[in-house]
Amino acid sequence: MCGIVGAIARRNVSKILIEGLSRLEYRGYDSAGVAINNEEGVFSHRAVGKVQALKDKFSDQLLDGKMGIAHTRWATHGKPTESNAHPHFSGGDLALVHNGIIENHEPLRLELKAKGYVFQSETDTEVIVHLIHDALKVEPSLLNAVQASLAKLEGAFAIGVVQNDDNERFIAARKGSPLVVGVGIEENFVASDQLALLHVTDQFIFLEEGDVVDVTLDKVTIYDAQGEQQDRPVSVFNHSIDATDKGEFRHYMMKEIYEQPKVIRACLEGRISDNKVLTSCFGADSGFLKQIENIHIVACGTSYHAGMVAKYWLEELAGLPCSVEVASEYRYRKVAVPKNTLFLTLSQSGETADTLAALRMAKSLGYLTTLAICNVPSSTLVRESALTLLTNAGAEIGVASTKAFTTQLTALLLTSVAIAVENGLSAQEESALVDAMRSLPAYVESALAEDEHIKKIADRFANKHNALFLGRGAMFPIALEGSLKLKEISYIHAEAYPAGELKHGPLALVDEDMPIITLVPHNDMLDKLKSNMQEVAARGGELYVFADKDTDLHNEDNIVFTEVPKVDSILEPIVHTIPLQLLSYHVAVVKGTDVDQPRNLAKSVTVE
Ligand code: AGP
Repeated sequence: MCGIVGAIARRNVSKILIEGLSRLEYRGYDSAGVAINNEEGVFSHRAVGKVQALKDKFSDQLLDGKMGIAHTRWATHGKPTESNAHPHFSGGDLALVHNGIIENHEPLRLELKAKGYVFQSETDTEVIVHLIHDALKVEPSLLNAVQASLAKLEGAFAIGVVQNDDNERFIAARKGSPLVVGVGIEENFVASDQLALLHVTDQFIFLEEGDVVDVTLDKVTIYDAQGEQQDRPVSVFNHSIDATDKGEFRHYMMKEIYEQPKVIRACLEGRISDNKVLTSCFGADSGFLKQIENIHIVACGTSYHAGMVAKYWLEELAGLPCSVEVASEYRYRKVAVPKNTLFLTLSQSGETADTLAALRMAKSLGYLTTLAICNVPSSTLVRESALTLLTNAGAEIGVASTKAFTTQLTALLLTSVAIAVENGLSAQEESALVDAMRSLPAYVESALAEDEHIKKIADRFANKHNALFLGRGAMFPIALEGSLKLKEISYIHAEAYPAGELKHGPLALVDEDMPIITLVPHNDMLDKLKSNMQEVAARGGELYVFADKDTDLHNEDNIVFTEVPKVDSILEPIVHTIPLQLLSYHVAVVKGTDVDQPRNLAKSVTVE
């Protein structure tokens, strides 16, 4: 999604802004731009494509100045062209960058056109800069003009504004889209996330919904949605959890796949004893665990798939009804909330617009409490939820989520066991589950050992256009996640089905061109799944089977076998995820796609 960086300093800020944009590249974008304010005016460069294209423009024409704003754009209104790229200007010396969507941009555009404003782009954003320009005619303070203009906007935004007439400050604001202030010594910054500013500061202020901030060299003044000045706490970034370089790996995604044993261990650390889940991990008061009678899980994408797995665990271990829903649907329907229902959100970023909107709606629906399982401690989701369980996976840069998913599953397993203990799980069963969890990092390590073998299999997918993933029970969501990974980064159309559904339709697709990736659990579904595989084999389909060797499956004419470690069945969904991540990674490398920043996708989906 769009990314914003803003800076004011005693030194030239253009390099700071460009470095900030490079650090935001992982969020996904299709064009970039920067505006620099100096004694002679506000000047900009904009370019379609990568930040490198913008850097090249600086080599042709250097822009120097001590204040500026910069942007990576992920197109929503209007194609990714140079004229639609931000910053947008009004009157030549007022420039603005924006992340979000202005829903009432059409009537505003008409009003502004009637006042004589000429639009240079197809974006919704351009109305904001003209509104501010118009407000400045009656209200010379840039801060007041921004506040007056924001009051007219419907939708979501984070913005940064510079004006040449007022070269002592820039103004930024957020409502519905993330924005953080970076505090320096005689220099201050804003950005869409902390990672964009770690080269200049480790001190941050997280803005609240509706905040407008006046940023000068030595002061950051924050006003809330009512225009009241507010003090917000400064937090210091913990560098030990920063992991923003690729190390020995060619792509962030591969680095993050290989980090999984370590981060799963970090997710479990301090949360299990020899034989128990330590409920203190949910905060000082874990009394809510006793009261839960139902669970509603709401999330998007990969996080939603983690929620689907948790439904199996919660119903099996705790015997409590659990529903799982994508946030974009949940937020727009009337939801019946039974008594004592836990509202549980899952999100890697904690900034996903639909998940945040669902949480805000849920707060008015009488839930028992709200719990966020999230990877970003400073995120809006964490700040707005009553309870939090952090996944501790460290920064995830690859757009395709990997370690965030397996740590979400680990955190969900901890949560499921903690709830089950209050609902009749015996001490012996709890102890066995805790033992299983403790062995999880080692099993994930063994699953990674199949990397070379999977790399060879990946070659066979290079010319495929479709793939089918099959799973049963808690492995069905893992099949869904495997198919999402493959389509996200290799652009191969992939679908997932519960294997029992094959003969109800998808079997019609099966022929020798259709690879069928089958996840074989070692439980009472094994024989049923083997029958489903026979149905495929009988129609010439090529099966890629992921199973442990005790399942008695092996390479055959139409079966390509990959061994997955034999584990306690509760761990199978997590351990089976690893080979599917490796498969999609290697297929994408064979196909030569942009693994870490696949086309059209964004890491943090901060707009609806
Ligand atoms: C995962 O590979 C995807 N990029 C995407 O589905 C993602 O999981 C989804 O957008 C939700 O993001 P979140 O976990 O940050 O809320």
